[in-house]
Amino acid sequence: MRGLAVLFLAALLSAEDAGKIMRPADKAAMPSGQVDIVATAPAGKLELDGKAIVAEKPFPNVLHLSVQAAAGEHSLALIWEGGRKDIHFFVGPNPPAGYQRFRQHPPVAEVQCTQCHELSSRGRFRFKNDSCFDCHQKDSFVKVHTHEPTLLAECGLCHNAHGSTVKAHLLYPKETACRQCHN
Ligand code: HEC
Ligand code: HEC
Ligand code: HEC
Ligand code: HEC
Repeated sequence: MRGLAVLFLAALLSAEDAGKIMRPADKAAMPSGQVDIVATAPAGKLELDGKAIVAEKPFPNVLHLSVQAAAGEHSLALIWEGGRKDIHFFVGPNPPAGYQRFRQHPPVAEVQCTQCHELSSRGRFRFKNDSCFDCHQKDSFVKVHTHEPTLLAECGLCHNAHGSTVKAHLLYPKETACRQCHN
């Protein structure tokens, strides 16, 4: 029985992990209706307010599109075999309680996905180490992070580089972020 429960839990967790909406963040308040969506899931499909929307696939299993959304509240769903993820976002001034201003990153027009991503020789979608330092200073990194960039090269461990509703686009509060290696 317990073996079965463990298997079931493992299947549940991997199904949970299989799909991610990188952008926008849940409860994002967008000033304009031009909303850029980034998501990933094996054979994933997107629905905006319950209607299918067709995304480009710049990399295998990676979905990207820009939609024009009317003012008001919207729901975005990512659906794949064995799982789904739902987020909500708001377009326009005066968002309802619980919504936070979304800041897209990089806040520069026309930055391509390939600025930070590539396919490995084995066809795996991955982050290009060092790609952030085309725009950010390496010199000030140690002061902010306590470590050389080589030790914290996986910026995605702590930051959502596609944007967020929080300071420094942190995925966790600073203490939790550092505790990924320090107990
Ligand atoms: C400024 C750098 C940057 C840009 C530009 C960027 N990304 Fe990312 N992306 C990251 C980082 C950092 C991660 C987290 C590292 C990782 O998961 O390997 C990530 C993770 C992802 C993931 C999740 C990968 C996984 O399996 O967990 C997807 C999907 C993704 N990016 C898609 C895109 C798409 C599509 C674009 C273009 C619209 C894009 N990214 C633009 C930095 C960037
Ligand atoms: C262990 C978690 C962690 C990792 C990994 C990490 N960061 Fe950070 N980063 C932070 C924290 C914490 C802050 C500070 C936020 C604050 O002080 O409010 C920060 C702040 C920043 C800032 C804004 C700070 C400033 O200069 O004003 C930038 C830019 C940044 N990180 C870039 C990066 C890049 C590039 C990488 C990968 C090479 C990276 N970070 C990896 C945790 C991390
Ligand atoms: C195309 C240029 C560009 C790239 C590439 C880029 N950034 Fe940025 N980033 C910016 C700009 C511009 C800002 C806003 C001005 C600033 O705070 O420096 C910014 C701001 C930030 C901030 C601070 C947000 C805040 O709350 O003040 C963090 C953290 C950050 N970037 C992390 C990263 C990480 C991590 C990567 C790589 C995964 C990366 N950036 C790649 C241009 C870039
Ligand atoms: C990827 C793993 C990793 C992350 C994440 C990480 N550290 Fe560390 N940290 C280390 C390692 C390994 C050492 C010991 C070697 C060294 O000093 O570089 C260390 C050492 C330190 C030390 C020196 C004192 C000691 O305990 O030995 C401080 C202070 C520190 N880290 C602070 C931070 C802070 C603050 C953060 C969050 C911004 C952070 N670390 C995130 C791996 C990590």
